[in-house]
Amino acid sequence: MKIGFYDSGLGGLTVLKEVLSNEDFKYEVYYLGDTKNTPYGTKADDVVMKIVEDNVRYLVDIGCNPIVIACNTATSLAIKKLRQDYPNIEFIGTEPAVKVATDAHLNKKILVLATSITVKQEKLLNLIDKLDINNEDVILKPADKLVLFAEDKNCIKMDKEVEEYITELLSEFNLKEFSHIVLGCTHFPLFKENFRKVILALEPEANIDIIDGSRGISHQLMKKIDELQKNEEKIDKIHLILTSKSNTFISRTREILGDKKIELEYKLQ
Ligand code: DGL
Repeated sequence: MKIGFYDSGLGGLTVLKEVLSNEDFKYEVYYLGDTKNTPYGTKADDVVMKIVEDNVRYLVDIGCNPIVIACNTATSLAIKKLRQDYPNIEFIGTEPAVKVATDAHLNKKILVLATSITVKQEKLLNLIDKLDINNEDVILKPADKLVLFAEDKNCIKMDKEVEEYITELLSEFNLKEFSHIVLGCTHFPLFKENFRKVILALEPEANIDIIDGSRGISHQLMKKIDELQKNEEKIDKIHLILTSKSNTFISRTREILGDKKIELEYKLQ
């Protein structure tokens, strides 16, 4: 079984990491990181739609099923169309974990940080409408610059810049009023520690859970695999497919995923 993972870049690795923490998961993964077109969140919807369709076609053509769209932006724009176009492929999408936050029933505010595309999509607005919370208590805010920091080859040396930006994002709020910050972009969990530091500096008395959707996606994927599996031999290997040459992506992948068998391939036009 070939399992596809797809993101505009490194972000989907935060989801793959959660999946790999599952001891039963020993499958061949094809992770497509669209290094050529990253970031998606600040591009026009129709441009990203075309890019997503092209990359997903590639994963389908090499035989991936199921495919995890490990990107909130691509999911919010394209998952409906992908499911229509490929009725035989199981797609698992990613959406901001707002429900996990509202299920905690803490009667406080929730801040959702995501890309500019994700925060304006009907998919997210509809999801919030259906939840047991006043719409005004869910605050949506774009935080696109975090994607640029994550993809920067000097990312690990950029804590200061990252924390200044997070301070800029959070300082307009009274953080004591919030129970959760939902990281609605798969790149953002790479900065969880920076978020913790900034929150502590801004409001030591705040009690905020910083959450993302990776655990839910991992559960869904394991369930799908169980349904699809036909006593196949398990292969434990990650094929890393990039859309442009990148010297740093593979070392960043190793930093994020740890010691895994990784084979680098390219999808170049
Ligand atoms: N990691 C992505 C997401 O979850 C996309 C970020 C981007 O390319 O702007 O939305």
